[in-house]
Amino acid sequence: MTDRPVTPVIPRPQTPHRDLLQLEVLPDEAQMRADIEQLRQEKNAVILAHNYQRPEVQVIADFVGDSLGLSRQAARTDAEVIVFAGVHFMAETAAILNPHKTVLLPDLRAGCSLADTVTAQGVRDWKASNPGGLVVTYVNTTADVKAESDYCCTSGNAVQVVQSLPQDVPVLFAPDRFLAAHVIRETGRAMDVWDGACHVHEAIRPEDVQSQQAAYPDAELLIHPECGCSSRILSAIPELQLYSTEGMIHRAQASAAQEFIVVTETGMVTRLQHDVPGKTFIPVSRTACCEYMKMITLGNILESLQNLQPRVTVPEEIRTRALLPIERMLAIG
Ligand code: 13P
Ligand code: SF4
Repeated sequence: MTDRPVTPVIPRPQTPHRDLLQLEVLPDEAQMRADIEQLRQEKNAVILAHNYQRPEVQVIADFVGDSLGLSRQAARTDAEVIVFAGVHFMAETAAILNPHKTVLLPDLRAGCSLADTVTAQGVRDWKASNPGGLVVTYVNTTADVKAESDYCCTSGNAVQVVQSLPQDVPVLFAPDRFLAAHVIRETGRAMDVWDGACHVHEAIRPEDVQSQQAAYPDAELLIHPECGCSSRILSAIPELQLYSTEGMIHRAQASAAQEFIVVTETGMVTRLQHDVPGKTFIPVSRTACCEYMKMITLGNILESLQNLQPRVTVPEEIRTRALLPIERMLAIG
């Protein structure tokens, strides 16, 4: 028997994400911020930013948070205009909750590879072959997929949503198979699972986590359940908890650890540094970067406030059907 060749782990380039995906050189950031502030007041606008947004976008937002927190803010805002510094499905969710408000997504190309893995027709076919099943979809889906769903969830409340369902019905969970594996581990419940994943989280390798652990042996791991590496890391450390992006903030605040390896999209490091000052946050890999999230810039936020474009709207027939699973999601967790 011959020895198997050892595959060397080739380090990936370590480029800070602000340089990697900065699409434009900002001529005068201070002036842009002042112009955005003035327009925000004139237009009675609120800027909602996801935790993965660029640092300079997080700084000017009225609220920075995870998908669940952003949906809750969108549901309760009094502003007439919602500028979504996030991706398309998030702006759609805000539009579903606020049919009479203007919802702006400063760059309509800001999509989501995970949302692209499932279509409404795909869910209809899935339900037809699983009669009586309840469909639970991650909020990272299009409005017409939500319209086919019984419940939505985010990574922040997926476990509680599935726990709230009657025991005697099959559960169809879409589209993220890694989040589904986390829910199955936590609830012990069998589910039929869609075969989708986010390209950013799927690409984070156990080797990326291990090489940062070797460099920072005292650091605690903060791992998002969308990560492809989570099952292998959990088999080595079964007691490890996984956290939604907002859950990472609470854990970093509560933990006695001073250093953390942040195993999710790199923008999360910005939010953690802001909310938990004095502790050190190390990105698992600087290439774990969502190019869709980084399409939103100060420049296109300013333009969208000037023109009140591009808008995100949802046809009324889809909106009314998508509203129920979203309202159920907001009521749980
Ligand atoms: P949360 O903000 O719900 O943790 O989700 C992460 C994500 O990938 C959003 O696109
Ligand atoms: Fe979608 Fe992944 Fe980007 Fe989140 S990080 S918006 S799941 S592609």
